[in-house]
Amino acid sequence: MKPLKIAVLGSGKGSNFRSILSAAMSGALRVRPVLAASDNAGSGLLSLAENLGIETCAIEEPRYRTRLSLEVENALVGRIRESGAELVVLAGYMRMVKQPLLEAFPRRIVNIHPSLLPAFPGLDAWKQALAAGVETTGCTVHFVDAGMDTGEIIAQSEVPVLPGDTAETLHARIQEAEHRLYPEVLGRFSRRELP
Ligand code: GAR
Repeated sequence: MKPLKIAVLGSGKGSNFRSILSAAMSGALRVRPVLAASDNAGSGLLSLAENLGIETCAIEEPRYRTRLSLEVENALVGRIRESGAELVVLAGYMRMVKQPLLEAFPRRIVNIHPSLLPAFPGLDAWKQALAAGVETTGCTVHFVDAGMDTGEIIAQSEVPVLPGDTAETLHARIQEAEHRLYPEVLGRFSRRELP
C-alpha cells in the first residue's frame, strides 16, 4: 500500500508536525507530507517543511483572526487539491474551518485538541482544565465539522493533572501524549482502516 499523502495545517510551533515527521522518517508511519500550510509566517511548521523540501503554503489573511475569508479558504483548497493530499491534518491550526474545506474534503479533515472532548473546547484547553480542578485531562483526535471542536471523536489519550501543575507543565505533559496519539491515529488512516 502506498504511503498516505497528507497536507498539514498549523499556526504554532509545529511540535505535532515534528512528531508526525519523525514517525514517518523512522518508517513507523506510512504517510508522506505533501504540503505544509500556515497562517503564521513565523510558524515552526513552515521552517520544518522548508528544511525537508516539503512544499509550503503561507496563508495570508489579514482581515479575520478566527477564520479565513471565503476567497482565501478557496485558494487553500486549490493548493491542497494540487498537492494530491488524501487527508488534511490540522496540527495546532487556530482558525475555524469553513464550508470550502469541509465540502472539498468530507470526513478527510482531522484535528488534535488538548483536552478530553467534549470537555474544554476552544482556546487554551489545558488552562480550562486547571481552572476547573479536574484530576484527569488529555487530548483528542477528531474529525472536523463546522462546530468548534465538535466533530466525531476518533481517539483520546488521558493525562493526569498533578499537584503543583502550572499551565506550562500541564500543556507539556498533554503534548507528550499528543505526540504519541496523532501518529497512531494517522497510522490507522494510512492502513485505510477509517472509512
Ligand atoms: C497543540 O497542543 C494542539 O492540541 C493545540 O495547539 C497546540 C499546537 O502545538 N490545538 C488546539 O488547541 C486546537 N483547538 P504544536 O504547534 O506544537 O503542534
